[in-house]
Amino acid sequence: MRNIVAGNWKSNKLMGEAQEWMDGMAGWLASHEGVEVMVGAPAPYLATLASAAPDGLHILAQNVSAEGHGAHTGEFTADMLKSCGVAGAIVGHSERRARFGDTDDKVKAKVQALVDEGLQAVFCCGETLEEREAGRQEEVVHAQLKAAVLELPVDALDCVVVAYEPVWAIGTGKTATSAQAQDMHAAIRGWLTESFGAEKAEGVAILYGGSCKPSNAAELFGQADINGGLIGGAALNPTDFQGVLAGHPELKG
Ligand code: PGA
Repeated sequence: MRNIVAGNWKSNKLMGEAQEWMDGMAGWLASHEGVEVMVGAPAPYLATLASAAPDGLHILAQNVSAEGHGAHTGEFTADMLKSCGVAGAIVGHSERRARFGDTDDKVKAKVQALVDEGLQAVFCCGETLEEREAGRQEEVVHAQLKAAVLELPVDALDCVVVAYEPVWAIGTGKTATSAQAQDMHAAIRGWLTESFGAEKAEGVAILYGGSCKPSNAAELFGQADINGGLIGGAALNPTDFQGVLAGHPELKG
């Protein structure tokens, strides 16, 4: 079983601030274990951060190209990330699905590109408020999983992390209750079990994202199928991020 807490800085921080954040995490990382710690950084800093990252911190991109090498101005590929020491990428975030054209097909190609390089694909899924109010949340999340993950070879699952992020909870201060989150995580685990078998499904970390913060992390991470979190606002400074990490039952130190 993997336990992961990943930050997602989104489009925040200048280079110096990113380096200060890493400095602020270094001592903490050296004295804690039991949870994999990752952070999704803006693309211009990835190579520098990956080469300077303290032990125990894995640097993620927040996107990757769905295309290979070629005439695709502005895109960067999974093997480029790998050549810079980047551990993987966040893909299918609802902000990208809603505003930057990340369709299910594109998300599928991005997941595939990452796992082909042996990189981590932090695959995001989640329903809108409208979909939840209509009782369609599981149907929506299963469809997102089916589109991007179902056709992967079973061993590729070792590279996949699922982040359940209800759209209505992202950056809103509204968190899913631990029961709502656990119900969905169990449904995701059930889908993974049906699709890939129990052993593989048990090995996949399923993270909760959406206004997760120091005050609610322990309650969320204490649920049976919640293996950690994908953290936006509360990952912007090391103190809050460490406060979130402190809520993980597997953290030692
Ligand atoms: P939030 O963002 O923690 O600020 O709600 C989470 C995310 O979008 O990954």
